[in-house]
Amino acid sequence: MTTVIDGKAVAASVIESVKSATRSLESDAGVRAGLAVVIVGDDPASHAYVSAKSKMAKECGFLSVQHTLPEETTQEELAALVGRLNADPSIHGILVQLPLPKHLMSEPIIQSILPEKDVDGLHVVNAGKVATGDLEGGLVSCTPAGAMVFVRHIHGDDLSGLNAVVIGRSNLFGKPMSALLLAANATVTTAHSRTRDLPAVCRNADILVAAVGRAEMVKADWVKPGATLIDVGINRVPAPERGEGKTKLVGDAAFKECAEVAGVITPVPGGVGPMTIAMLMANTIIAAHRKAGRQPPKF
Ligand SMILES: NC(=O)c1ccc[n+]([C@@H]2O[C@H](COP(=O)([O-])OP(=O)(O)OC[C@H]3O[C@@H](n4cnc5c(N)ncnc54)[C@H](OP(=O)(O)O)[C@@H]3O)[C@@H](O)[C@H]2O)c1
Repeated sequence: MTTVIDGKAVAASVIESVKSATRSLESDAGVRAGLAVVIVGDDPASHAYVSAKSKMAKECGFLSVQHTLPEETTQEELAALVGRLNADPSIHGILVQLPLPKHLMSEPIIQSILPEKDVDGLHVVNAGKVATGDLEGGLVSCTPAGAMVFVRHIHGDDLSGLNAVVIGRSNLFGKPMSALLLAANATVTTAHSRTRDLPAVCRNADILVAAVGRAEMVKADWVKPGATLIDVGINRVPAPERGEGKTKLVGDAAFKECAEVAGVITPVPGGVGPMTIAMLMANTIIAAHRKAGRQPPKF
């Protein structure tokens, strides 16, 4: 019988832990955690993400600050705002919503955020710490951190003897995910568009993680019976069965058929997705604890 992971429930339990750590930091050290979210331009999807993040930060009891900048903001203006947030002691986490409008370069902006405030985990210092297996000193990118919460729930902290395959090698997800699995002692293969015979590589996986961005690419016969399948993909596809012009979200795995083979599977939506915001809150409270010289909570 396949277990379908309820990502919303796991995310809610992470948020409860964040709330309790927020309360204790405030009562014991007099410090209120602060998260600043910066958005440039009018992209409706980005605005929806940012509102959800700011709302969740408030719910967690953080000082939640949102900076909404116009489309015509210059590189210098955005850099100056990041500089002010870096220097602001009430702000422990800074998130610049990506993608930025085309005339702005995101990389210099991300790299200008102080690594200890980089709650998205995208600064090279934080990426480097994950790559070198230093998981206590830095901040781990939110989506792989969330996927690892699922892996630990299912397999525990030590993945010795297990084969893991991650499909995708992006800096945002695939590379840090592979590094986290390796740090937990799994034997890891990172597959990508140049991998030969991807289905055969996947069939070797006790833990299969798909982060490609191709709707329902992973089929049932790619999945080892009883394997754990973590589906990170978010793909919007036409759904004529729901009415003319309607769409729906699907993952990178063909959920129904894969669920018949996998031991554990994450759905899309409602799997990895809700964990990303939860881990952003987790990173913010970790950063605030460190700044106050206190042992941060573990997630
Ligand atoms: N749940 C969340 O909150 C969350 C967060 C982040 C991302 N996502 C989703 O996760 C997916 C991946 O995101 P990303 O940012 O990592 O995407 P990305 O930067 O586009 O990377 C996609 C990766 O998939 C590989 N790939 C593409 N076609 C392939 C194929 N036919 N066979 C094998 N590998 C293939 C690419 O290989 P090459 O390197 O060889 O090109 C690349 O490494 C997207 O659907 C995204 O929306 C979800």
